[in-house]
Amino acid sequence: MVIAIDGPAGAGKSTVARALAHELGFTYLDSGAMYRCVGLLSLAAPASEPAALARAAAIDLVPSQADGPPRVLLDRHDLTEQIRAPEVSEAASLVAADPGVREALVAKQRELIASGDWVAEGRDVGTVVAPDAALKMFLTADPHERARRRAAELGADADTVFVEQGLRDERDRTRAHSPLRPAPGAVELDTTGLEVAEVVARIVALARAAAST
Ligand code: DC
Repeated sequence: MVIAIDGPAGAGKSTVARALAHELGFTYLDSGAMYRCVGLLSLAAPASEPAALARAAAIDLVPSQADGPPRVLLDRHDLTEQIRAPEVSEAASLVAADPGVREALVAKQRELIASGDWVAEGRDVGTVVAPDAALKMFLTADPHERARRRAAELGADADTVFVEQGLRDERDRTRAHSPLRPAPGAVELDTTGLEVAEVVARIVALARAAAST
Protein backbone atom coordinates (compact mmCIF):
# COMPACT_ATOMS: atom_id res chain seq x y z
CA MET A 1 0.00 0.00 0.00
CA VAL A 2 1.21 3.51 -0.81
CA ILE A 3 0.25 6.66 1.06
CA ALA A 4 1.16 9.82 -0.87
CA ILE A 5 1.85 12.99 1.12
CA ASP A 6 2.28 16.14 -0.97
CA GLY A 7 2.28 19.84 -0.23
CA PRO A 8 4.52 22.91 -0.04
CA ALA A 9 7.69 23.17 2.09
CA GLY A 10 7.03 23.65 5.78
CA ALA A 11 3.50 22.21 5.73
CA GLY A 12 4.75 19.50 8.10
CA LYS A 13 5.04 16.78 5.46
CA SER A 14 8.41 15.30 6.53
CA THR A 15 7.68 15.14 10.24
CA VAL A 16 4.19 13.79 9.63
CA ALA A 17 5.26 11.30 6.94
CA ARG A 18 8.08 9.91 9.10
CA ALA A 19 5.86 9.57 12.17
CA LEU A 20 3.10 8.01 10.05
CA ALA A 21 5.50 5.46 8.50
CA HIS A 22 6.78 4.60 12.00
CA GLU A 23 3.25 4.20 13.37
CA LEU A 24 2.07 1.99 10.50
CA GLY A 25 5.33 0.05 10.03
CA PHE A 26 5.65 1.38 6.45
CA THR A 27 8.86 2.59 4.77
CA TYR A 28 9.31 6.33 4.36
CA LEU A 29 10.34 7.78 0.99
CA ASP A 30 11.58 11.38 0.97
CA SER A 31 11.44 12.17 -2.76
CA GLY A 32 12.69 15.72 -2.09
CA ALA A 33 16.00 14.25 -0.86
CA MET A 34 16.54 12.93 -4.40
CA TYR A 35 16.01 16.40 -5.94
CA ARG A 36 18.37 17.78 -3.28
CA CYS A 37 21.05 15.24 -4.29
CA VAL A 38 20.79 16.34 -7.92
CA GLY A 39 20.82 19.99 -6.80
CA LEU A 40 24.04 19.34 -4.87
CA LEU A 41 25.57 17.58 -7.88
CA SER A 42 24.63 20.51 -10.12
CA LEU A 43 26.43 22.92 -7.76
CA ALA A 44 29.54 20.72 -7.86
CA ALA A 45 29.42 20.29 -11.67
CA PRO A 46 27.71 23.41 -13.07
CA ALA A 47 28.71 22.61 -16.66
CA SER A 48 26.91 19.24 -16.60
CA GLU A 49 23.43 18.62 -17.88
CA PRO A 50 21.19 18.20 -14.74
CA ALA A 51 19.18 15.38 -16.37
CA ALA A 52 22.40 13.43 -17.03
CA LEU A 53 23.44 13.96 -13.40
CA ALA A 54 20.01 12.70 -12.26
CA ARG A 55 20.20 9.59 -14.45
CA ALA A 56 23.73 8.73 -13.30
CA ALA A 57 23.29 9.52 -9.59
CA ALA A 58 23.41 6.47 -7.30
CA ILE A 59 21.06 7.67 -4.57
CA ASP A 60 20.42 5.42 -1.58
CA LEU A 61 17.86 6.41 1.02
CA VAL A 62 18.65 4.32 4.08
CA PRO A 63 15.68 4.06 6.45
CA SER A 64 16.38 5.00 10.06
CA GLN A 65 15.42 2.72 12.93
CA ALA A 66 13.00 5.02 14.75
CA ASP A 67 11.03 7.87 13.21
CA GLY A 68 14.17 9.99 12.63
CA PRO A 69 15.34 11.16 9.20
CA PRO A 70 16.76 8.49 6.89
CA ARG A 71 20.41 8.76 5.83
CA VAL A 72 20.94 9.94 2.28
CA LEU A 73 23.84 8.35 0.42
CA LEU A 74 25.02 9.69 -2.89
CA ASP A 75 27.57 7.51 -4.68
CA ARG A 76 28.08 5.87 -1.26
CA HIS A 77 28.93 9.18 0.47
CA ASP A 78 26.67 10.13 3.37
CA LEU A 79 25.38 13.60 2.45
CA THR A 80 22.37 13.65 4.79
CA GLU A 81 23.36 16.99 6.35
CA GLN A 82 24.89 18.66 3.27
CA ILE A 83 21.71 18.35 1.20
CA ARG A 84 19.82 20.50 3.76
CA ALA A 85 22.02 23.60 3.19
CA PRO A 86 20.05 26.66 1.93
CA GLU A 87 22.03 26.83 -1.34
CA VAL A 88 21.10 23.19 -1.99
CA SER A 89 17.39 23.99 -1.38
CA GLU A 90 17.67 26.63 -4.06
CA ALA A 91 19.59 24.36 -6.47
CA ALA A 92 17.08 21.52 -5.87
CA SER A 93 14.16 23.82 -6.73
CA LEU A 94 15.93 24.82 -9.98
CA VAL A 95 16.77 21.27 -11.12
CA ALA A 96 13.25 20.11 -10.13
CA ALA A 97 11.88 22.26 -12.98
CA ASP A 98 13.90 20.24 -15.54
CA PRO A 99 11.68 17.59 -17.23
CA GLY A 100 14.65 15.24 -17.78
CA VAL A 101 15.55 15.39 -14.08
CA ARG A 102 11.93 14.67 -13.13
CA GLU A 103 11.70 11.76 -15.54
CA ALA A 104 14.88 10.15 -14.14
CA LEU A 105 13.91 10.63 -10.49
CA VAL A 106 10.27 9.58 -10.94
CA ALA A 107 11.53 6.33 -12.51
CA LYS A 108 13.78 5.71 -9.47
CA GLN A 109 10.90 6.49 -7.09
CA ARG A 110 8.43 4.20 -8.91
CA GLU A 111 10.97 1.39 -8.84
CA LEU A 112 11.37 1.79 -5.08
CA ILE A 113 7.68 1.83 -4.20
CA ALA A 114 6.68 -0.94 -6.63
CA SER A 115 6.52 -3.43 -3.77
CA GLY A 116 5.93 -3.11 -0.05
CA ASP A 117 4.16 -0.51 2.06
CA TRP A 118 5.27 3.10 1.69
CA VAL A 119 4.63 6.59 2.94
CA ALA A 120 5.98 8.63 0.02
CA GLU A 121 6.40 12.35 0.48
CA GLY A 122 6.99 15.11 -2.07
CA ARG A 123 5.24 17.49 -4.47
CA ASP A 124 4.02 15.14 -7.22
CA VAL A 125 3.62 11.76 -5.54
CA GLY A 126 -0.17 11.75 -5.82
CA THR A 127 -0.25 13.42 -9.24
CA VAL A 128 2.62 11.67 -11.05
CA VAL A 129 4.69 9.12 -9.09
CA ALA A 130 1.83 7.10 -7.60
CA PRO A 131 -1.53 8.31 -8.92
CA ASP A 132 -3.05 4.97 -7.83
CA ALA A 133 -1.92 5.41 -4.21
CA ALA A 134 -4.48 4.02 -1.75
CA LEU A 135 -4.50 7.36 0.07
CA LYS A 136 -3.40 10.76 -1.21
CA MET A 137 -2.93 13.63 1.23
CA PHE A 138 -2.22 17.29 0.41
CA LEU A 139 -0.93 19.11 3.48
CA THR A 140 -0.96 22.90 3.67
CA ALA A 141 -0.36 25.49 6.41
CA ASP A 142 -0.40 29.23 6.80
CA PRO A 143 2.73 30.60 4.94
CA HIS A 144 3.97 32.49 8.03
CA GLU A 145 3.68 29.37 10.18
CA ARG A 146 5.47 27.34 7.50
CA ALA A 147 8.33 29.87 7.45
CA ARG A 148 8.52 29.85 11.27
CA ARG A 149 8.73 26.02 11.35
CA ARG A 150 11.37 25.94 8.62
CA ALA A 151 13.42 28.74 10.28
CA ALA A 152 13.35 26.90 13.62
CA GLU A 153 14.51 23.71 11.88
CA LEU A 154 17.36 25.51 10.10
CA GLY A 155 18.25 27.94 12.90
CA ALA A 156 17.68 30.74 10.34
CA ASP A 157 15.87 34.08 10.32
CA ALA A 158 12.09 33.65 9.81
CA ASP A 159 11.70 36.75 7.60
CA THR A 160 14.46 35.59 5.22
CA VAL A 161 12.99 32.08 5.11
CA PHE A 162 9.55 33.59 4.38
CA VAL A 163 10.82 35.51 1.35
CA GLU A 164 12.85 32.58 -0.03
CA GLN A 165 9.97 30.19 0.61
CA GLY A 166 7.62 32.44 -1.39
CA LEU A 167 9.95 32.38 -4.39
CA ARG A 168 10.38 28.60 -4.27
CA ASP A 169 6.63 28.02 -3.78
CA GLU A 170 5.93 30.14 -6.81
CA ARG A 171 8.48 28.21 -8.90
CA ASP A 172 7.14 24.81 -7.70
CA ARG A 173 3.53 25.84 -8.43
CA THR A 174 4.01 27.46 -11.82
CA ARG A 175 6.57 25.16 -13.47
CA ALA A 176 5.32 23.56 -16.70
CA HIS A 177 6.17 20.03 -15.59
CA SER A 178 4.40 18.43 -12.60
CA PRO A 179 3.51 21.68 -10.86
CA LEU A 180 2.67 21.47 -7.17
CA ARG A 181 -1.08 20.91 -6.88
CA PRO A 182 -3.42 18.50 -5.09
CA ALA A 183 -3.98 15.21 -6.94
CA PRO A 184 -7.53 14.34 -7.96
CA GLY A 185 -9.08 12.61 -4.97
CA ALA A 186 -6.47 13.94 -2.52
CA VAL A 187 -7.60 14.80 1.00
CA GLU A 188 -6.50 18.36 1.77
CA LEU A 189 -5.50 19.05 5.37
CA ASP A 190 -4.48 22.45 6.78
CA THR A 191 -2.00 21.69 9.58
CA THR A 192 -1.89 25.27 10.97
CA GLY A 193 -2.16 25.04 14.74
CA LEU A 194 -2.40 21.23 14.75
CA GLU A 195 -0.01 19.01 16.72
CA VAL A 196 1.95 16.44 14.69
CA ALA A 197 0.24 13.62 16.64
CA GLU A 198 -3.17 15.00 15.71
CA VAL A 199 -2.31 15.14 11.99
CA VAL A 200 -0.85 11.61 12.13
CA ALA A 201 -3.95 10.27 13.93
CA ARG A 202 -6.22 11.73 11.25
CA ILE A 203 -4.18 10.21 8.43
CA VAL A 204 -3.97 6.82 10.21
CA ALA A 205 -7.79 6.80 10.41
CA LEU A 206 -8.05 7.66 6.70
CA ALA A 207 -5.45 4.98 5.81
CA ARG A 208 -7.33 2.32 7.79
CA ALA A 209 -10.55 3.29 6.05
CA ALA A 210 -8.80 3.18 2.64
CA ALA A 211 -7.27 -0.24 3.41
CA SER A 212 -10.66 -1.71 4.32
CA THR A 213 -12.41 -0.64 1.09
O1 DC B 1 10.75 18.73 0.09
P1 DC B 1 12.12 19.39 -0.15
O2 DC B 1 12.18 20.81 0.34
O3 DC B 1 13.24 18.57 0.39
O4 DC B 1 12.25 19.44 -1.75
C1 DC B 1 13.37 20.02 -2.37
C2 DC B 1 12.96 20.59 -3.73
O5 DC B 1 12.59 19.53 -4.62
C3 DC B 1 11.77 21.56 -3.70
O6 DC B 1 12.08 22.73 -4.47
C4 DC B 1 10.65 20.84 -4.39
C5 DC B 1 11.33 19.78 -5.19
N1 DC B 1 10.56 18.52 -5.21
C6 DC B 1 9.82 18.24 -6.32
O7 DC B 1 9.77 19.04 -7.26
N2 DC B 1 9.13 17.07 -6.39
C7 DC B 1 9.16 16.21 -5.36
N3 DC B 1 8.46 15.06 -5.44
C8 DC B 1 9.89 16.50 -4.19
C9 DC B 1 10.59 17.69 -4.14
